[in-house]
Amino acid sequence: MERRIPVQSRTWDIDDSIDQVVRICVEAVQIASVSDLRLEQLFGELDKILLDLDDAQIGAVRQDPRYSSIRERFHLIRAEYEYRREMAVAQTIADAGREAAADQFRSADWYEIAQAFEVRSLAPYRCRRMIWLGAGPFPTSAIYFARANPGLSIVCVDCDAEACRLAKEVVRIFDCPTLEVVHADALDLSDFSYYDGVMVGLVVGVTDADKMRVVEHYTRHVPPETLLVFRTAVSSGTIIWPSVDLCLLDGVPHRLLPDPPQKLYSLIVVDRSGSGS
Ligand SMILES: C[S@@+](CC[C@H](N)C(=O)[O-])C[C@H]1O[C@@H](n2cnc3c(N)ncnc32)[C@H](O)[C@@H]1O
Repeated sequence: MERRIPVQSRTWDIDDSIDQVVRICVEAVQIASVSDLRLEQLFGELDKILLDLDDAQIGAVRQDPRYSSIRERFHLIRAEYEYRREMAVAQTIADAGREAAADQFRSADWYEIAQAFEVRSLAPYRCRRMIWLGAGPFPTSAIYFARANPGLSIVCVDCDAEACRLAKEVVRIFDCPTLEVVHADALDLSDFSYYDGVMVGLVVGVTDADKMRVVEHYTRHVPPETLLVFRTAVSSGTIIWPSVDLCLLDGVPHRLLPDPPQKLYSLIVVDRSGSGS
């Protein structure tokens, strides 16, 4: 149902789902520091709506001044929320000492769909020594990659010491001896000569300015013979997560992988050696 609602000096024709998405984002920013439970409810609701939005609706949300005026703050709140709920899952796994404790993770299926797509997409590059920036307290993607590629070693980097402490526990419990966890900020690392693959996580650089710094840093320091990959939000995923502006990669051979089955984020593959073609 269409409704005319006043926003500042203009009126907008807006359908319910656009209005609902915008209201959830606004409320999330308003309550972020006071109620984890309400935030969980809001994001649970939002994540369901996102998958059904079409391009016109996504565009309308992004142009809505109620959303555009809070976009970066909202992305920071979403990133903090993702971190906190992963810390909770990692702590549960560490306390239980069992892999199965991860089954209660609300986004497990999302991740699995995305990880299978990412493993398939990067298989032609035959990486043996990867570094994963922003692997998290529950490095589920690095674990998935290591299990899908026996012999692949992955250095999981996180800027949060507590996340690293828990990630080491999780990696031990999941029995992934080829995974190493390192506490560092992605922007403090510049020697990638040892690696044949570099994966830069979705929330490494959340604000536009931070994301630009991350992209510039990695395109400058990762050697041309090393595969460089950025996770980036796409489609309705850009409402909740940061994306890499492709203009930042002008002059650098890159490819945004189309049609990610998980719909919300995909990979930008920077292959300056042409090894994957
Ligand atoms: C929540 S996790 C998500 C990744 C998820 N665990 C996976 O396996 O796909 C994202 C992590 O990125 C880390 N992070 C964000 N910015 C970073 C940076 N500049 N350097 C290193 N880690 C960073 C955060 O601390 C957080 O733990």
